[in-house]
Parts: sequence; C-alpha cells; structure tokens
Amino acid sequence: MRLGTPLSPSATKVMLLGAGELGKEVIIALQRLGVEVIAVDRYANAPGQQVAHRAFVINMADGQALRALVEQERPQLIVPEIEAIATDMLAQIETEKLAVVVPTARAVQLTMNREGIRRLAAEQLKLPTSNYAFAESLQELHAAIDAGIGYPCIVKPVMSSSGKGQSTVKTKQDVAKAWDYALSGGRVNRGRVIVEEMIHFDYEITQLTVRALDSRGQLQTYFCDPIGHVQVNGDYVESWQPQPMSPVALQQSRDIAAMVTANLGGQGIFGVELFIRGNQVWFSEVSPRPHDTGMVTMITQMQNEFELHARAILGLPVSTALRNPGASAVVYGRFDAKGIVFDGVAQALAVPNTDLRLFGKPESFKQRRMGVALAFGDTLEDCRRRAKLAASTLTPQRAPGDNG
Ligand SMILES: Nc1ncnc2c1ncn2[C@@H]1O[C@H](COP(=O)(O)OP(=O)(O)OP(=O)(O)O)[C@@H](O)[C@H]1O
Ligand SMILES: [Mg+2]
Repeated sequence: MRLGTPLSPSATKVMLLGAGELGKEVIIALQRLGVEVIAVDRYANAPGQQVAHRAFVINMADGQALRALVEQERPQLIVPEIEAIATDMLAQIETEKLAVVVPTARAVQLTMNREGIRRLAAEQLKLPTSNYAFAESLQELHAAIDAGIGYPCIVKPVMSSSGKGQSTVKTKQDVAKAWDYALSGGRVNRGRVIVEEMIHFDYEITQLTVRALDSRGQLQTYFCDPIGHVQVNGDYVESWQPQPMSPVALQQSRDIAAMVTANLGGQGIFGVELFIRGNQVWFSEVSPRPHDTGMVTMITQMQNEFELHARAILGLPVSTALRNPGASAVVYGRFDAKGIVFDGVAQALAVPNTDLRLFGKPESFKQRRMGVALAFGDTLEDCRRRAKLAASTLTPQRAPGDNG
C-alpha cells in the first residue's frame, strides 16, 4: 500500500461514518500515517470531528445524503463507526467500487441487526449461543418464553446498542414491562425484539480479532489478549487485559472468533463478545470495528485497537503484542449540561501509572460516557483499583455560571 500526502491530489482519503470517542482514536492513528480524514456525524463538534481534516454533519441513515457526500469527497475507504447507517447504500457504494467499505458492507449490514448476526452465528456457522427467539408483539414474546426460552431471560430490541431498551425478565409479571421498554429503546425496527436465555457465565470477554495483511501481502487473522469487562445495564463500566482463561476456553474463543470474522470478511479489527463458564464458550455478538471495552489497549498494547484498525484497513502489517497488564474505567457525565468542566484532573493523574482520555463531547448527560481512565501495572487487581480511583477522582461539574 502506498500512502499519499494529505490535502494534495495524492492524498489517501478515509471517511469515518460516526466520529465518537472510538472514531476519534482511529482518526488520530490515521493522521499519524498522513492519511486525509473526513469525519461525519449527526451532530457538530463530535469528538472525532475535532481531530479530522474536514467535518460534516448529516443524517447517516439517509442514503441519498450519504451518497452525495461520498461523491463529493471521494474517499478510498469508508469506515463505519456506528450502526445506524443506511447500509443498503453502503452495499451499493461497494458494488459500484466507489469506495471500499470497512470491513465489508455485508459485515456492517449483518451486525447492525441482532437477528442477522445471531442467525449467521447459530444457524449457519453452528456456533454455541444462548437459546433465542424473535417476537413482534407482547403475545409472541410470552409464547416464545413459554415455548422454551424460560426464565430468567433477556429482551433486547433487534436494533440497539449500549444496552438501550434491554432488560432482564425474571418472571411472567415482568414481560410486559420488558416489551414496553424494548419498544422505547430500539433504533429503527420498532416492534421486533430478540429474547435470549440468560447465560450464567463466570465472566465475559471481548476477543479483539484483526484481519490484516502480513509482510508478504497474505491475509492473516491475529488475536489480542482477551479483555475482561463488567457491564452495568448493558453498558461497559470497566475492562482489563489480559483476562486469565483456561487454555481450552481461550482456544475455543479464538476458534469462534476466527470463524465469525472469516465469514464477515474484509480487513480490520473486530470485537467478538463471548460468555465463558469453565471451559464452555458462547458467542454473543461482534462489532466489525474497535470495541468500547478495547479502550484498555491504549495502555496495554504496543499497538492499540485503533492503531491496529488503521493499519489493517490500509493493508499494513500489525502486531497484537501485549506490553503490560492494564485496566480502564469509564467516566460518566453525571450532569445533563453543555460545556461541562472536569475538576480533579491533576489529582486523578497523580494516581501512579495512569492516563486519561477526555473525549471533548459538547454535551454531557448523566449516563453519557465522557472519558475513560487507564492504568497499567503488574497485577490486574492493582490496575483495576487505580483505574477506578483515577476515574472517581475526576469530577465533572457544570460550567461556571451554568445553574441548570
Ligand atoms: N443471553 C445473555 N445472558 C447473559 N448475559 C447477557 C446476555 N445477553 C446480554 N447479556 C449481558 O448484557 C450485556 C450487553 O448485551 P449486548 O452486548 O447484547 O448488548 P448491546 O446493547 O449490544 O451492548 P454493547 O453495545 O455495549 O455491546 C452483555 O455484555 C452481557 O453482560
Ligand atoms: Mg455487546
């Protein structure tokens, strides 16, 4: 692969669709290689737009608007960072060879809907997953649970992320509430949910998996060390690497990750989410892009997940080597307010062997992820403790003069 000079006719141009905190780090990695980057989001001054060459605000679910921008900017690569995109148009753009869609338009299409990826994994690839069913009404949901999913179970809109609209159902009395909640939290396909058997796992991991060219130009699959994490209400609050695993469970996890990513195809990083109990592994879902729990790699790996993605999509060689154990802890906004300030930054960074990322989101919400604290060290316990300490030392506040 040949790289050009940004802002010149020889530029290698990449368009990010979605420019949140994960996109921002991918952009920084691309910028370091002299790539010209165009950051697209649904609102102005999104984190990634603040570090890109050009920024555009469009509705990415609008296929015509998306196409018009691609024709105007002519990127060689399109990198979807979010799921709510007009994926039919991405497929068309790929077919017409207008641009390469990372990793493939089909991967983006299949993973934006829980039904697509679940049927592929369980029914086509025969991978172990929780038992599941789909429902389009409260009656169908009751019937599906009674027909075998049982209690407890988990109800999720087929199109949603970060735990939105997702709830655990313990008894028959909870079903209606879960149905209503799923309807309120779904993205596009209102009224269709997946109900899954609850897996009682010992722990869950993200297996970051990279499909990249080696130095001979051959496509290879590389695995990062497993990332353990804690989720609260379907949203990640803490992650660490490497998660200790039995050799059997680790091998099983990598076999599953290799099969799923080989089927989705293309080049780039994938976050394969797996549940583990003893030596048993269940596939849960996969992101065809960097994963939020993988932010820990900014302090643990020689090449973090964003650099790995940037290299992989450009056809450059990668190394998934771990440098040292580490942990990440999420910093929430704590206020619904614009232009918040962070107190305690110096105190947080005074916690030994820590670092911070403040995403620069223009508007804070109580539960919005505004930053992440990172810590490295010798033991996971110590890394987790210090990452959480740094995160909790940081105090978001309303801006001076903002009285709510
Ligand atoms: N079948 C299940 N059994 C046990 N726990 C589950 C199951 N499904 C989901 N969970 C728990 O809920 C979390 C979020 O679920 P899932 O990944 O499906 O939702 P999501 O909205 O895509 O979240 P994200 O976008 O943060 O990955 C999982 O990481 C896991 O902790
Ligand atoms: Mg998930």
